[in-house]
Amino acid sequence: MNPTPAPTLAFRAIDVIRKKRDDGELSRDEIESLVNAYTRGDIPDYQVSAWLMAVVLRGMTRAETAALTDAMLRSGEVLDLSSIRARKVDKHSTGGVGDKTSLVLAPLAAAAGVVVPMISGRGLGHTGGTLDKLESIPGFNVNLPAAQFRRVLETCGCAMIGQTAEIAPADRKLYALRDVTGTVESPYLICASIMSKKLAEGIDALVLDVKTGSGAFMKSEKDAAFLAELMVETGERMGKQVVALITDMDQPLGCMIGNALEVVEVVEVLRGGGPEDLRQLCNELAGWMLHLGGVSDTVAEGKEQSEKLIDSGKALDKFRQMVELQGGEPRAIDDPKKLPQAQHSMILSSPKNGYLASLQCEQVGTACVILGGGRERKEDSVDPAVGIVLHKKVGDAVSAGEPLATIYYNTETRAARARQLLEESYEIADTLARGKRPLIHRVIGKPGERN
Ligand code: URA
Repeated sequence: MNPTPAPTLAFRAIDVIRKKRDDGELSRDEIESLVNAYTRGDIPDYQVSAWLMAVVLRGMTRAETAALTDAMLRSGEVLDLSSIRARKVDKHSTGGVGDKTSLVLAPLAAAAGVVVPMISGRGLGHTGGTLDKLESIPGFNVNLPAAQFRRVLETCGCAMIGQTAEIAPADRKLYALRDVTGTVESPYLICASIMSKKLAEGIDALVLDVKTGSGAFMKSEKDAAFLAELMVETGERMGKQVVALITDMDQPLGCMIGNALEVVEVVEVLRGGGPEDLRQLCNELAGWMLHLGGVSDTVAEGKEQSEKLIDSGKALDKFRQMVELQGGEPRAIDDPKKLPQAQHSMILSSPKNGYLASLQCEQVGTACVILGGGRERKEDSVDPAVGIVLHKKVGDAVSAGEPLATIYYNTETRAARARQLLEESYEIADTLARGKRPLIHRVIGKPGERN
C-alpha cells in the first residue's frame, strides 16, 4: 500500500520565515500561501509562531499589510447584505478596560435607522470582550448562523454575534496563536486581524475607536495614530468609508468593569444616566455612525439625534428587542438583579487624603481577569458576575478611608490576588501634577464630514 502523500506546497514556510527574519519584503503570493496553508492545517503552529514574531520585530510594508488583510479576508465568506437597503455601519474598538460602548452603540444607531451588523470578539489579554459581556445576559446567543443573523438585522436593525466558522477563519486561528505567543502588539497584525473581520461583514462604513494609554495595546498616542492610519487606509482601499477616533484608555472607561456589571452600566447610559466619560464617548461615536450611515448631515447633528433617541427611550427599546431576538432574557435589562450576581464584595479604601493622580489601567483589567472575569488560559470559561466598581476616577479628591473601589467576587483566593494588584494600581498624590487627559485625542480620516 502506498503511504499517504505529504501535502504538496508551492512554497516552503521556512523560506518565508527566514525572509521576514532578515527584514525582507514578502510578496503577495508568499503571504497568501502562508495564510492559506495555515488555515488548511498544512503548516504547524510553531512555524507560524516564528513568522508572527518575525513580523512583530521587523514590521511590514503597506503592500504586505494589504496582502495579509486580503488573504485573511478571503480565507472565508464575505456577507452579502445588499438586500438590506439602509446603509450598514459598524464600530470597532481596539480593546480596553470597561469599554462597553458597542452595547450602547448598536441599538442606538439602529434606533436612528442605521443597520449595524456587528461581529465582535472575546476578551483578549487584560481587555474585556463584547461577546463575554452579552453572554452575561441569561440566554443571549452570540452564535447565530448567518441566516438568523440576517433575520435579526432585518427585524430590528442591529445584531451582535461572534466570528462564525465562515468569517475570516484565518484570523480565528492566528488570533488564538498570537494571544499565547506574545505577538498581539503589532500594528500590522492588529490591522489585518480587525479589518479582515470587519470587511467580511458587508458594511458600507466603519467607525474605529483606537485606544491609547496604559490600558491599551498601543500605549503611546503616536503608535495608536500609526495603527489608526493603517486601518483607515486599508478600509478605504477596499472602498469603505472609515474614520478612526484615537481615544483615551489611561484609566478604565466608565466605572464598572466585569461582564454583567458592564451590562448594568450600558442600561444606565441608555436610560440617559451613567458616568460622564462613557456617555461622552458613546455620543461622539454615535454621531459618526449616524453621519456615515447617512441619517445625519453632520457629526454634530448625529450627536443631537442620538441624545434624543436616548431621552425618548427608543435606544433602550431597541436594545431590549435585540436581546429578545437573540434569545436573551429581556427582563434582565429592566431588573439588574436578574443578571448574574457575585456572592461577595469587599471595599478598597483610600490609605490617605489627596487626589487620585493615576490608575494603572492594564493592571485593573488584569485584576478583573484574575477574579475570573476574563481568561488566563484559552480554555478557561469566564465568571459573568465578578468585577470591580470604581468610586473615584483620575483627578477626583479622596479622603483617608473613603472607598476607592468595590470588588465583586466568588473565590477568596482570587479576590486576595486581585485586591493586591488593584491596590498597587492606585497613585494617590497630595496635589495633581498634570491636567486631565482628553477623552478624544484625535480623529483620523474624516470621510464625508460636512461640519
Ligand atoms: N482586536 C482584534 O480583533 N484583533 C487584534 O489583533 C487586536 C484586537
